[in-house]
Parts: sequence; C-alpha cells; structure tokens
Amino acid sequence: MRGLEQVPWAYDLLVALFEAAGLAKWRVWLAREAVGRTLDLGCGTGRSLPLYPAGSRPIGLDPEMRLLLRARKRAASVPLVLGRAEALPFAPCAFETVAVSLVFCSVVDPPKGLSEIRRVLASGGTLRMMEHVRPEGLSGRLADLVQPAWTCLAGGCHPNRRTEAAVARAGFAIDPSTRRTTRTLRRFVARPAAPS
Ligand SMILES: C[S@@+](CC[C@H](N)C(=O)[O-])C[C@H]1O[C@@H](n2cnc3c(N)ncnc32)[C@H](O)[C@@H]1O
Repeated sequence: MRGLEQVPWAYDLLVALFEAAGLAKWRVWLAREAVGRTLDLGCGTGRSLPLYPAGSRPIGLDPEMRLLLRARKRAASVPLVLGRAEALPFAPCAFETVAVSLVFCSVVDPPKGLSEIRRVLASGGTLRMMEHVRPEGLSGRLADLVQPAWTCLAGGCHPNRRTEAAVARAGFAIDPSTRRTTRTLRRFVARPAAPS
C-alpha cells in the first residue's frame, strides 16, 4: 500500500514538524544508548542514523528503496539493507541492539516481526522502541473509526495499534524505569523475557 509514508520528502516534512514539537528528544533517546551491532529496523529516510553513538555499529533496514536512497544521503557510511521486519535477512543473535521508531504501526504482521527481533537479538541484547499507539477513551474510538481511511492515505500506518501490549505478548519484558508515555506515544527498552 503506497501513501505518505512512502514519499520521502512528504514523510520528512511531516516528521520534522513532530520533532520540532518534542519528538526530537525521544529520537535522541532511542539512538544514544545503542551499543554494539545495532539494527535500525524500518529506518525510513534515516533520521536516526546520524544519532547513533561512536562505538555502535548501525545497519538500517527498510522495505522501501526510495526511502533507503534518502537515508543513504543522510548517513553515507551506514550499511543499508532492503528487507522487512517479518523476514529479517540476518543470522540469529546478530545484534546487541534493535532500535525501532514509528514502525510497528505499519508492519503487516506484528507478531511475526517481533519474533524476528527476538531471533536476531544476541543474549543480553535490547529492543529500544518508540511508537505511537491507540489512545484511550474517546480518542481511541475515533482512531478506530478513521483507521481504514488513514491507513490508505498514510500508506500502511494504523493509528490504533496496541504495540506495547503486543511487545509484552511476544515475550519481551519491558523495563519500567525506561518507560515514558504520552497520550499517543510510548517509548521503552525491552529484553527477551527469560523462559519460565
Ligand atoms: C513512519 S516511518 C518511520 C521511519 C523511521 N523509523 C523514523 O523514525 O523516521 C515507518 C517506516 O516503517 C517502514 N516499514 C513499513 N513496514 C515495514 C516492515 N514490514 N518491516 C520494516 N519496516 C517497515 C516504512 O517503509 C517506513 O520507513
């Protein structure tokens, strides 16, 4: 499905507005504590790529070639890979960090994508995530109502996903000390939960 999300200049313009309104700080948080081999899953136009700290080794992955071409201009030295969350083209335990920002609203099969993240995370590795989610109350019901039209216009984005709950269901333990919330945004660090 093609829409706003697949038009690099439109996406950058829209997100620049959100970043100016406060999202920029969350993006810095997402990137700054990445360690070791780091997968920026759904890197889009590469807005986070220049923010990863020295010593981390980021790789960007996205299913949209046009977005990757823009990401290439932003971060010429970062390896970029065409691919999808649901079938990550990496060996098991390949990454110490997987960073995900504003992606699971669009992933077609979130449980499969989350199980792929578990597979590619090395022992002790972390998922760093920042996502917009379904708000509570009336706004949530409104998000449900506009979802079909919005998904079409935006090119796959769902304004009513409960992504944090999906992460927990997929067997990750969310570190409460890292968790921040707004009405529509969540950010947190999660680790594969130990098998019981
Ligand atoms: C809203 S953009 C976010 C881009 C970037 N992470 C950021 O923070 O600016 C959503 C991104 O998710 C990507 N995406 C959509 N479905 C995906 C999937 N199944 N696997 C990986 N990335 C996907 C889109 O191509 C797009 O680049």
